[in-house]
Amino acid sequence: MKKGMKVMLATIVTASLLALAGCGSSQTQGSASYTKENPLVIKFSHVTTAESPKGKAATKFAELLQEKTGGKVKVEVYPSSQLYGDKDELEALQAGNVQVIAPSATKLVGFNPSFQIVDMPFLFKNHDSVVKFWDGELGKTLMNSLESKNMQGLAMWENGFKVFTSNKPISKPEDFKGQKFRTQAGKVLEAQFKALGSGAATIPFGETYTALQQGTVDGQENTWNNIDTQKYEEVQKNLLVSNHGRIDYIVLTNKKWYDGLPADIKKAFDEAMAEATKYERQLAVELDKGSEEKLRKSGKFQIIELSEAEREGFVKLMESVYSEFEKTVGKDIIDGAKKL
Ligand code: LMR
Repeated sequence: MKKGMKVMLATIVTASLLALAGCGSSQTQGSASYTKENPLVIKFSHVTTAESPKGKAATKFAELLQEKTGGKVKVEVYPSSQLYGDKDELEALQAGNVQVIAPSATKLVGFNPSFQIVDMPFLFKNHDSVVKFWDGELGKTLMNSLESKNMQGLAMWENGFKVFTSNKPISKPEDFKGQKFRTQAGKVLEAQFKALGSGAATIPFGETYTALQQGTVDGQENTWNNIDTQKYEEVQKNLLVSNHGRIDYIVLTNKKWYDGLPADIKKAFDEAMAEATKYERQLAVELDKGSEEKLRKSGKFQIIELSEAEREGFVKLMESVYSEFEKTVGKDIIDGAKKL
């Protein structure tokens, strides 16, 4: 083949490859190329049910964004780990196989151990201090720390304070000795159970019901709403109202993908996220309360309340978590959260 021909062929091949690579990527298309018939499809994957606050808010976000773009954007929501579970949703986001996920902050420990702030025992005083933390400088800095991992933090969505459940007695600290609890992720939760004399096993959310049913673990810790929507009352007997830690979500998107969105779609995306966030935060409080009332009425759990002195006993026992993890999580972050 002549040299001129070779160069021409190479140019054609390169151009075709570039065109192929650009296919379907929003970065190379203006929003005008999307229509109701040929929309930009966004996948939103999460692990809780469609009825949970996260599930309802994901659906709300989908409706809002579709409405704001006149159908040029279609958001497909996949609840209950249907598409990705705890083990693979973060990789899927980074790879661009899904565009939005909302893992609990704990599950981001592999990227930044400071996200375990939500697991520090008895740290946040109340709901308001949690909101202030995530909407303030400390929370924002944490979220932005994911940018170098090609993830953009969009918002904090709430779930609530955690309580313990188990098939064995859990009324007092001594009861925890020798039991095994399911954890979401990370060393702080492991240390929390170690302080109580219990073992811990990290199990994906989607596999927790079965693990409790089969006795792989004796108990777990979660919000009233997660306990209710996962039907843990079917496989657990005792519930200790401890409010010792938080489950809150960091809504994340793929940064490169997000930065490449056409300006009008990005604007609609941000507006829809802000409205869905407002909706989610109000709903989370209502639904957690509703689940608590429902479970209390159902009589399915032996519910144990703590007196102030009993609560203090748990606080004291878990103090070792602070000395062990102050450096890893960050003293400034812990102190900042304590003050709120
Ligand atoms: C859990 O794994 O228990 C929770 O993080 C699940 C969730 O997303 O609320």
